[in-house]
Amino acid sequence: MKIAIIGTGYVGLPTGVGLAELGNNVVCVDKIESKINKLNRGELTLYEDGLAELFRKNVASGALRFTTETGEAVRDADVVMLAVGTPPHPLTKEADLKYIYAAAEELAPFLTGYTVVATKSTVPVGTGDEVEKIIRQKNPTADFDVASLPEFLREGFAIHDFFNPDRIVIGTETPRARETLLKLYRPFAEKCEFLCVKRRSSETIKYASNAFLAMKIHYINEMADFCEKSGADIREVAKGMGLDSRIGKKFLNPGPGYGGSCFPKDTNAMAEMGKKYGARLTLIETTIAENDARKARIGQRVIETIREHPEGKIAVLGLAFKGGTDDCRESPAIDIIKEMIRHSRNITVYDPKALANAKAILNNTVNYAETVEETCKDADVAVILTEWEEFRRLDLERLKQIMRSPKIVDMRNMLNAEEAAAAGFDYQCVGRKV
Ligand code: UDX
Repeated sequence: MKIAIIGTGYVGLPTGVGLAELGNNVVCVDKIESKINKLNRGELTLYEDGLAELFRKNVASGALRFTTETGEAVRDADVVMLAVGTPPHPLTKEADLKYIYAAAEELAPFLTGYTVVATKSTVPVGTGDEVEKIIRQKNPTADFDVASLPEFLREGFAIHDFFNPDRIVIGTETPRARETLLKLYRPFAEKCEFLCVKRRSSETIKYASNAFLAMKIHYINEMADFCEKSGADIREVAKGMGLDSRIGKKFLNPGPGYGGSCFPKDTNAMAEMGKKYGARLTLIETTIAENDARKARIGQRVIETIREHPEGKIAVLGLAFKGGTDDCRESPAIDIIKEMIRHSRNITVYDPKALANAKAILNNTVNYAETVEETCKDADVAVILTEWEEFRRLDLERLKQIMRSPKIVDMRNMLNAEEAAAAGFDYQCVGRKV
């Protein structure tokens, strides 16, 4: 099939590459000329495991192309996917739909033949209705349907998730649109469940899923706090809970709170939607407030460890919102550092991939280091905030030699508590007393 994808970010690009690999003819569009020029030179604009190989292969075969011209991509397309950003609105916490609406206006005149316009971006309930209106106004004779096709790709695992989905959700208002999208996703027919639902249900499924996962993380974080006080061990508790198939093993890792480009934005947008429709979503509202409060508390907890040396050096290991990515958007590490900056000017930070992105946010409020050793030299406490494999293999003997005070606050439970204690560290972690 002929597919046009508007937006070449973390959703659009992996989706375009994946659909080309499945045998479709894909054209990806982006307004940013430098991005398209780069992609046309055969260079990727973002890192995703496994993306480079499939990108090169499908560009070489001609199945995947890039352009800044919406018309060129949309003309003759069977399906046009909207994968532009829906960032939080600068004034409210709702999703800002200006890019979605602008894309709908721009593509409308170029629709030829029957076309399904599907939103891949996470959009509030009712956005499909608006997109339909905009296209209809701009092009009253166009033969089209608007669908919702939510995307569940995790950053860092986008290609894996694209080819191994848990489910394909197709939200449509007409059988014709449904049949078109079923045809597009037929290669997954044996692999996972297909869910064909109303467009508004589909739009809600994405938010309800992300908000539920955020709530699950918040829940295990609260349980971890409880375990620390009650003498239980969160690792054992999480394992015991996860073995109940109704609960499931995944997303039960306690840590510094959830972050990233999706959970914070989507939980806020969902809570706002609840208010808009007069259906308060109290669990989500609490999750948002408590996830924020958690980050401030962790900042305080670290400051507390240097109470006797308030000028002491704080070494921060990990800045990205999770391991395996250079993305610092809404990273808990950044918020925790911001809290610590209120009390200390002696903070040195390190991340194997995310230093450049962190610098753009933290500027000269902290010092930057290129290695773990440089970060921890003469430090009074080392704080682990992102789960990089490198931190699991820290040389504790060496760390003990170079640090001024042997203290570790491990907010990702990366280290073996007994080994840390044996190496002479005052070691704190999440969800158990050491
Ligand atoms: C998420 C969803 O998983 C994906 O389906 C959606 O399409 C986009 O948002 P992503 O933001 O890439 O993906 O990250 P994810 O791996 O889900 O982690 C989100 C945050 O939760 C991270 O800060 C992570 O560290 C945290 N997390 C996750 C935990 O603290 N504990 C867990 O057990 C799992």
